[in-house]
Amino acid sequence: MPTLKGTFSYIKNFLKDRNVAAVAPSSRFLVRRVCKWIDFDRPAVIVEYGPGNGVFSEYIWERMHPESTLLLIESNSDFVKMLTQRAGDDPRVIVEEGRAEDVVDILRAHGLDGADYIVSGIPFSFLDEDARHALLARTRDVLSEEGKFLVYQNYNHLEEPLREHFSAVTKEYEPRNIPPTMFAYEAVK
Ligand SMILES: C[S@@+](CC[C@H](N)C(=O)[O-])C[C@H]1O[C@@H](n2cnc3c(N)ncnc32)[C@H](O)[C@@H]1O
Repeated sequence: MPTLKGTFSYIKNFLKDRNVAAVAPSSRFLVRRVCKWIDFDRPAVIVEYGPGNGVFSEYIWERMHPESTLLLIESNSDFVKMLTQRAGDDPRVIVEEGRAEDVVDILRAHGLDGADYIVSGIPFSFLDEDARHALLARTRDVLSEEGKFLVYQNYNHLEEPLREHFSAVTKEYEPRNIPPTMFAYEAVK
């Protein structure tokens, strides 16, 4: 279950910033369901869109290969401060205040030319249709040939757009979460 402190930070930021779009961090069940699609035994560039207070980020950086890089792109400055503190001086973790839509420039600014995995919890339903398709196309383009987009969303509204942009999509439902309406997708380039 989410910690009280973690949930409090969500409620506080949810009230100030509609893009936070959640009153609690994702559950450990959802985190495990999504991250099982990552091969932690090999070096990889892993990008996370919308890490919030870092429930996915921590799970990933505790398990990732020593030569992997984790780039966290978060638009909310309170969460950016929390993530920066938690990442400490681990040189493998980069925290960037910005928007997922700018992933290409952000990768380039850090000397990276692509990603092997992109994990995303940003609310795609808040984007209009053109912006949603543009972000999915950009995400696919920055992935390596074997790359995967791992995304979780409230309700199943993203399945069709994902199938338009990716060659194979696996969908799973995770009820043990607040809210209990989460779908997880593994979208292969
Ligand atoms: C539903 S919360 C998920 C947070 C966390 N990943 C989790 O699972 O608990 C969405 C997060 O995405 C961030 N966000 C929303 N739109 C974004 C965007 N376009 N680019 C980067 N971050 C964004 C919000 O500030 C928030 O932290």
